[in-house]
Amino acid sequence: MTTRPNFVWGASTSAFQIEGAAHVDGRTDSIWDVYLRAPGRIKGSETAEVACDHYHRYAEDVALMRALGLNAYRFSIAWPRVLPQGRGAANEAGLAFYDRLIDALLAAEIEPWLCLYHWDLPQALEALGGWQNRDIAGWFADYTALVARRYGDRVKRFATFNEPCVFTLFGYGLGWHAPGIADKAALHKAIHHVNLSHGRAVDVLRKDVAGASIGAIHNRQPCYPCSANPADAAAALRLAAYWNDAFPFPQAFASYPPALLDAIAPYVMPGDMAQIARPIDWFGLNHYSPHYVRADTDLIGAAFGPAPDTVPRSAIGWPVVPDAFRDTLLDIHQRFQLPIYVLENGTAANDVLDAAGQIQDHDRIGYLKAYTAAMEQAIAAGADVRGYFVWSLLDNFEWGAGYSQRFGIVYVDHATQRRIPKASARWYADMIAGHRNSHDPAGRTTGRKTEG
Ligand code: FCB
Repeated sequence: MTTRPNFVWGASTSAFQIEGAAHVDGRTDSIWDVYLRAPGRIKGSETAEVACDHYHRYAEDVALMRALGLNAYRFSIAWPRVLPQGRGAANEAGLAFYDRLIDALLAAEIEPWLCLYHWDLPQALEALGGWQNRDIAGWFADYTALVARRYGDRVKRFATFNEPCVFTLFGYGLGWHAPGIADKAALHKAIHHVNLSHGRAVDVLRKDVAGASIGAIHNRQPCYPCSANPADAAAALRLAAYWNDAFPFPQAFASYPPALLDAIAPYVMPGDMAQIARPIDWFGLNHYSPHYVRADTDLIGAAFGPAPDTVPRSAIGWPVVPDAFRDTLLDIHQRFQLPIYVLENGTAANDVLDAAGQIQDHDRIGYLKAYTAAMEQAIAAGADVRGYFVWSLLDNFEWGAGYSQRFGIVYVDHATQRRIPKASARWYADMIAGHRNSHDPAGRTTGRKTEG
């Protein structure tokens, strides 16, 4: 593998999925806490009340990251932990947790990458309409200012939103995620208000954080029709408009993709599009698999169909197609002309402890090798990829799938909270060390460069 100075190798997590401490030190409910309380939401009625107990075990987790030689760590702030009512009075105890985390990362020479929103909206704001209420752009700007002023002396890498396409489509359109709403108007309002909030947050970060390096994190995946039927081809285009374009297009080009224009137009006020399209520094990409799409009668007329039998699949049935990752990176490069950071990539696997108490997750290693090789191909073909973050550091609370899916390179025994690095963690650490040794014999890469 070619080595590049300053390439950032990291791992990603999110607050709701790992922190636990759901009612500790003043944190209030997020929409996910409330959603999971309704019966039958997920198998086994699991909750994230404890999750990986990272809130109490962050020092051990940072030590693990250091042992792996990670250059960077992407985490998110739990909005209801720092602003229990979503707006108004800040919660000092919640803010202090992220001080401790950030300071521990910096002491371990791991660059903090802070994501403002990874799906855990304060329930207090959902009660006011959540992402359907246009006022949320102001609430989000105020929350961003609080975070920026508190941590901006130590954190320079900021992402506004994680996968806005997923939490709007699943949460407000299809009702599969919190807050569990399935309504076309709700979906279209939410899309526009998230975009507006993104633009407002970029302005706040620019103003309040000297040297900020700002991006958003989008899930982009090719949408292939399941069959040669023209109805499936049309459905694939419809899904692609929501999944791939509803956020990056307005944020980069100040317009909605043509397929969504009419639906979103009623919510757009004069000046909105310019407020959304604020210059940013990089494109954050999450990518796992392509989608295979079939026509359906649901809200957007498209459903996730089966991949053809010839396509290999992971333990949880997700298609494994590294070429789609390479093509996605090249497509982003051509369309958006920004440095790219891969901020999530990885796979769930059937991880079991062997007789020696270890996890030989060769499937995951195979996936990571194939996908990082595809990334290398994209770089060789001209894509400006500057970093790669594996999803995830730890086995964690996988939303609607609860604890049944293990995405970590570190195994978590959810009964005891014991962490055991899997074979893939050792593989990743060796790869990072190999890059470091070949270009920086004196020490680690810091990835602390800003774009330019
Ligand atoms: C992404 C989410 C992340 C995790 C992975 C598996 O869509 O951003 O929180 O659930 O998928």
